[in-house]
Amino acid sequence: MDQHIRFPTQAGGDASRQEIALFLRRWLANPLRMGAIAPSAPALARRMARETLVREGEVVVELGPGTGAVTRALLDAGIAEDRLVLIERDRHLHDYLVRRFPAATVIRGDARRITRILPARFHGRVSTVVSSLPLVGLPRPVRDAIVTGAFAVLAPEGRFVQYTYGLFSPVPRKELGIEGRKVAFAGINLPPASVWRYTRVPYASAVTTSAR
Ligand SMILES: C[S@@+](CC[C@H](N)C(=O)[O-])C[C@H]1O[C@@H](n2cnc3c(N)ncnc32)[C@H](O)[C@@H]1O
Repeated sequence: MDQHIRFPTQAGGDASRQEIALFLRRWLANPLRMGAIAPSAPALARRMARETLVREGEVVVELGPGTGAVTRALLDAGIAEDRLVLIERDRHLHDYLVRRFPAATVIRGDARRITRILPARFHGRVSTVVSSLPLVGLPRPVRDAIVTGAFAVLAPEGRFVQYTYGLFSPVPRKELGIEGRKVAFAGINLPPASVWRYTRVPYASAVTTSAR
């Protein structure tokens, strides 16, 4: 029997009691690593999903899926579960995700090591890396390593999608040689959050810019 009883959250969503309790337990165990104080609200998760593309023969990698709020939105948006690769560092959350999304590839590991822990067959075949990691709170070298690693496995036209509670880009664009912009705002998330989308700088404009 399905144990996932849905009920409304403060943000008007529908996380299960079990997921909220699990999130809180993991937050109490390591608040900095969790970053947020509650699972992502459905409105934010839907906006993240709207920015997530998957092309024929490619996959979506989710970093820090936690209790799976964004994962569920990806499925609701029509992305097949077996096209999802979830990378979660917390053992308890990892084990939960394995049970919750049996057709997805669920990897327990550190997103910083994405180039090593993502199976080689997916390298260059990732349409979108969608991240719920608390990037802004991380030391700069860690943040840069995660984003650089994500771009190393993305397909040429691939995109990196990240949300932030801050006003500014959560990813340093110029320094990492990528471009990006805010594409959505979820005002009913607590706290309100913006969604940013990043891509490689197209070769022609990179050449033009550096020639200036
Ligand atoms: C803000 S929470 C996830 C929110 C998620 N959308 C939800 O609703 O549950 C951030 C998640 O990133 C995970 N995490 C933090 N640092 C990580 C890292 N370096 N590699 C992989 N996962 C990480 C945490 O364990 C946590 O599950």
